[in-house]
Amino acid sequence: MMGGLTRSLIAAALAMAALHGLHAQTQENPLRSLPQVQKLYEQRLDSLRSGAPSRVFSGTASVVPSRAQTYAVSLGVAGVPQQRGHFCGGVLVNPHWVLTAAHCVADPAGASGSSPRSPLDPANLQIRIGTNVLHTGGVSRPIARIVINPEYRVTAEGVPENDLALLQFAEPLPGQPVSIADDALVRIGIRDGDRLLIMGWGTASFAADSPISNNLLLAVVPVVGTAKCNEAYGGAVTDRMFCAGLGAADACQGDSGGPAFIYNERGMTELTGIVSWGAGCTEKRSPGVYVNVTKYRDWINGVTGARTALQ
Ligand code: ARG
Repeated sequence: MMGGLTRSLIAAALAMAALHGLHAQTQENPLRSLPQVQKLYEQRLDSLRSGAPSRVFSGTASVVPSRAQTYAVSLGVAGVPQQRGHFCGGVLVNPHWVLTAAHCVADPAGASGSSPRSPLDPANLQIRIGTNVLHTGGVSRPIARIVINPEYRVTAEGVPENDLALLQFAEPLPGQPVSIADDALVRIGIRDGDRLLIMGWGTASFAADSPISNNLLLAVVPVVGTAKCNEAYGGAVTDRMFCAGLGAADACQGDSGGPAFIYNERGMTELTGIVSWGAGCTEKRSPGVYVNVTKYRDWINGVTGARTALQ
């Protein structure tokens, strides 16, 4: 029988090869490179199992506004220091609930194209909140329950649709939940060229060996109109998604599930998007694609407002 170590090394090598292969295909068909967070998650598990040294930044705190650490969430592997286990972002929407991307917490073994997909076992995951540096500060908490949007699916091209999930916590999390922009604001507000604030601990480049960032990084990205964005993505961008980023700054692997904010008329940030997918990162012709959270306010309020007892 093959040893566990050998097996995981082979799996890691396959995952690397797959990432490289997908990157090479990006030029021909951007849709084929979507989304790869599950590989990132599997790679993390593989490298943890194989005992390979992780590449960790130990820089000083970044210049992220201190408020960001009251709602920015890092999703990682349970029982593993966050700077090694981090694989997705999330955002606090209620003391008991964190909003993230469904593809971060859906079981990769589930049949693709089928809906709904079952979640990962929450016992294998943990979150960290209350710090902008992954290796210190804040609190780490177990997840009690994962609720995937019932309409979540992955298309034949690998594009996640209705890519949202809510993570429930038994004890209230410390921090300050964000407010979700409403449709009215977005109808007036989300326009081509508008600037959005995004943040995350994801990789700085699409290269397979690019490490996650220890510091929470921020970027401002311009909205790209859906019609224009669909020239890159062949119509895969629906009206419940929006695009942002023209190559200068972008979200990348490990940023999925994290927030995108619009500025309201008073200059305050309101949640409008969740990082979901994109072909490569900072590719001029392929903007980042976000879940348009304003289209899911009823679902979010319904799930987080219901007094469901935890089993
Ligand atoms: N799917 C990626 C993740 O899982 C996020 C991709 C966002 N890509 C982009 N170019 N904006 O972390």
